[in-house]
Amino acid sequence: MTDSLSVRDNRTGQEYDVPIENGTVKGADLGKIKSPDGQPLAVYDPGFVNTASCKSSVTFIDGDEGILEYRGYPIEQLAEQSTFLEVAYLLVHGELPTQTQYETWEHDITYHTFVHENVKSFMEGFRYDAHPMGMLMASVGALSTFYPDARDIEDDEIRQLQIVRMIAKMPTLGAWSFRHAQGKPFVYPDNELGYTANFLSMLFKMSEDRFGADERLVKALDVLFILHADHEQNCSTNAVRSIGSSQVDPYSAVAGGVGALYGPLHGGANEAVLRMLRRIKDKKNVPDFIEGVKNGDERLMGFGHRVYKNYDPRAKIIKKACDDVFEVTGVNPLLEIAMELEKIALEDEYFVSRKLYPNVDFYSGLIYEAFQFPPEMFTVLFAIGRTPGWLAQWLELVQDKEQKIARPKQIYTGDRTLDFVPSSKRWS
Ligand code: CMC
Repeated sequence: MTDSLSVRDNRTGQEYDVPIENGTVKGADLGKIKSPDGQPLAVYDPGFVNTASCKSSVTFIDGDEGILEYRGYPIEQLAEQSTFLEVAYLLVHGELPTQTQYETWEHDITYHTFVHENVKSFMEGFRYDAHPMGMLMASVGALSTFYPDARDIEDDEIRQLQIVRMIAKMPTLGAWSFRHAQGKPFVYPDNELGYTANFLSMLFKMSEDRFGADERLVKALDVLFILHADHEQNCSTNAVRSIGSSQVDPYSAVAGGVGALYGPLHGGANEAVLRMLRRIKDKKNVPDFIEGVKNGDERLMGFGHRVYKNYDPRAKIIKKACDDVFEVTGVNPLLEIAMELEKIALEDEYFVSRKLYPNVDFYSGLIYEAFQFPPEMFTVLFAIGRTPGWLAQWLELVQDKEQKIARPKQIYTGDRTLDFVPSSKRWS
């Protein structure tokens, strides 16, 4: 058996052998198949449903088996035994750090948590009710104006500096977006604290000398960041890569990623889960709600996934994190409804036959609410977690000799060769 595809083009009677490599055929090879008038064959694939856009060694997903690995390490082990900063190092550098490498990484990221004072005044200029994701997107993009050296994407030392800066500054920008909406003063980073504890301090500190978050909450948020750190070629990562393919600086590329994540089909589902649970209101209303879902009246938010058809491994870990958080904050009353929904759905033929299981968003909203985050902040938390993944993918892209500027084809369906009539004649 040879690794190729034999194709007969019935339009011309021509036969072709198209090589298969890594289970894919190259779009350029299909382009060698020509119509009778010489037009190359192309693939029509809105949403890249069956098109690989890159080769990547960052994240592996097996949706049927419910496997997620960063650089080959299972998400379960990373969530239990690692820290977000170590996972960030792993994603960016491709391997786990030595002790010295980790200490330097942690030191550098801590050192860069502050932002230029002009960023602060810039953020203060937003309207009182600005959405924190809009503020985050704009302020990450604005960082490109503070670091013009970032445009030199060929220089590895400069690239690494921007990566450190961005991972370091995202919590500062995210926390300040939150404080702005609350009309509270911005809190400067406390570099005596770890990455996640410092983020909580910038969010919630008031007049106390030092904000000391409960260690269990710090750990739970750190785990949530780990779970969101990368997810291969999703919508926002694809946006980062697509923008980065123009060789723009990484701040502009990541700002585009934040924009993509902002959309309700991507980062916003956990908010929808929370709204759904509030609407159901009581455990006794769950059977009626499930009937409504089965009748096609609505969707069970937080269930189902394009890739995971067995279970979402992140959902299992989050469920465990829920227990740890509720031990500190008290149980979110919506948890009872969520667990009843899960129990009924997992036994129901409708959900079983369609392979619908809880996804990462089913329980994460409950945890965020227990932290007293308003729903608008949920996606900001996702963005902070996803930043090392975006940057690892960006780094891979700019070093990949096979990559080109992203420029999909289209199937043109509009008019042709119309004669222009000036407005003076059209409007008289
Ligand atoms: N509730 C009820 N029915 C569903 C659901 C759901 N949540 N998800 C899928 N289905 C049904 C759907 O109606 C269809 O049924 P039928 O074959 O009878 O028409 C079948 O299952 C296949 O659904 P699909 O829409 O073709 O599947 P998809 O792969 O295009 O959609 C999804 C994946 C995540 C958009 C979808 O499952 C969904 O809308 N879920 C709810 C929203 C949600 O929780 N999104 C968060 C995703 S995880 C975050 C991330 O990793 O980015």
